Amino acid sequence: MLSPEQINALNSELQDAHPKQIMAKIQEVLPNTALSFSGAEDVLLLHFASKMPQPLPVFTLDTGRLHPETYRFIEQVRDHYGIAIEALSPDADALQALVKAKGLFSFYTDGHSECCGIRKVAPLRRKLQTVDAWITGQRRDQSPTRAEVAVVELDSAASTSEHPVIKVNPLANWSSAKVWEHIRLLEVPYNPLHDQGFISIGCEPCTRPVGPNQHEREGRWWWEEATIKECGLHAGNLHEAPGE
Ligand code: ADX
Ligand code: SF4
Repeated sequence: MLSPEQINALNSELQDAHPKQIMAKIQEVLPNTALSFSGAEDVLLLHFASKMPQPLPVFTLDTGRLHPETYRFIEQVRDHYGIAIEALSPDADALQALVKAKGLFSFYTDGHSECCGIRKVAPLRRKLQTVDAWITGQRRDQSPTRAEVAVVELDSAASTSEHPVIKVNPLANWSSAKVWEHIRLLEVPYNPLHDQGFISIGCEPCTRPVGPNQHEREGRWWWEEATIKECGLHAGNLHEAPGE
């Protein structure tokens, strides 16, 4: 278990480190670490992880509502890197109760948090109870709510006093342009939706392409306020967002 001082020290030490070095260091300090993969440009982290001496377990949250392209892409990545990708499903009873009560598109009328809570957040919480650290593709340039994302931080939303969970964001300081430069240079396979105007990719009903000069986050939950565009996976960001 890392103390707050140790977390801060790791965060300072790894500020300017390459994502590969960041992941290797976390794996050395906390061997029970898993990498989360959304099926978007965070594929770059899987590419870097595939070059590490020790494999990193990878999981994806299968909400049941991803684009067909994303499901196919996840399988393509599995084959390309020869890795297992654990797909985590929502609790069937909770999902059935929601759909029975409110239908399949309740998020358009009463907000995304209930559906995201069942399809993404609860399965993630269950997973995080079994690991000491998780790695995400969050970047500071993705959203105003992510402007202060640290490289290594305590995941306040997932931690309990008995079981702290560390969240590692190896791309925190990378720009979207830098990520894409690497994807192209290293010939990393990518989700074909990116060639159709999608930048940030989530579930199909809640993601749309963005136009010229629109911020990537404008394509996610576009009917809602920008300040609440976190689905709970990264709920800690909302408390830390500037001006909130
Ligand atoms: S979200 O909270 O708005 O959905 P976003 O799509 O920006 O998150 O992705 C940021 C990071 O969160 C991803 O790089 C990944 O680490 C994690 N993440 C998001 N969605 C998923 C998913 N469906 N499965 C696994 N990890 C995910
Ligand atoms: Fe449900 Fe949309 Fe959240 Fe996906 S992004 S879990 S469909 S509200």
